[in-house]
Amino acid sequence: MTQDELKALVGQAALAYVVPGSIVGVGTGSTVNCFIDALATMKDQIRGAVSSSVKSTERLQALGIPVFDANEVESIPVYIDGADEIDHSGCMVKGGGAALTREKIVADLAERFICIADESKLVPVMGRFPLPVEVIPMAAAQVARRFAATYGGTGTVREGVVTDNGNLILDVRGLQITDPLAMEAEVNQWPGVVTVGIFGRHKAKVCLLGTPQGVKTLAF
Ligand code: A5P
Repeated sequence: MTQDELKALVGQAALAYVVPGSIVGVGTGSTVNCFIDALATMKDQIRGAVSSSVKSTERLQALGIPVFDANEVESIPVYIDGADEIDHSGCMVKGGGAALTREKIVADLAERFICIADESKLVPVMGRFPLPVEVIPMAAAQVARRFAATYGGTGTVREGVVTDNGNLILDVRGLQITDPLAMEAEVNQWPGVVTVGIFGRHKAKVCLLGTPQGVKTLAF
């Protein structure tokens, strides 16, 4: 099975977690695109979606799925999104698509985060994928220096990328994220950091992993 086929498999499987009559939280990325396409088949059974990026909003609307502003929504039963890395406790690294801040906002509205990914994303220790951090532009160099001093990581500004919120993404290489909750809490306090791409407090409750043998479900 190709990676695209594995993504399509989990995108389809995530439909089982959509609560009829509800507003669905929708993430960003190529795996979520498969989910959005599958969601269109049951669009008459949901009220609509809250989206985590301009790209996902455009795809949802093109398929006739109403998109609500996050400020109009108090809580949603599920948020469905991909990840760049997942550890064995359901913590994730996200932000490969630069949408991490809005992803965390929508995840925060949700009772359950359902992660969809191909099985290559499951790792013993996160950090091989460069950790995305959304930063206010004037703080980029200082946040990179602080990463080097605190964790020994090397941060570089992602070229040509401006987030939906008008900020920069710092990709930090060379980290071993052995305590995701502690690193998330620490980095979030640094001046100029908008959001760190560690989803520890907002970790997955369920992870649907695409494997050649079918969908493997992990519950955390
Ligand atoms: C977007 O900012 C990311 O958090 C994505 O959820 C993540 O990069 C996974 O994307 P793919 O499904 O394209 O691998």
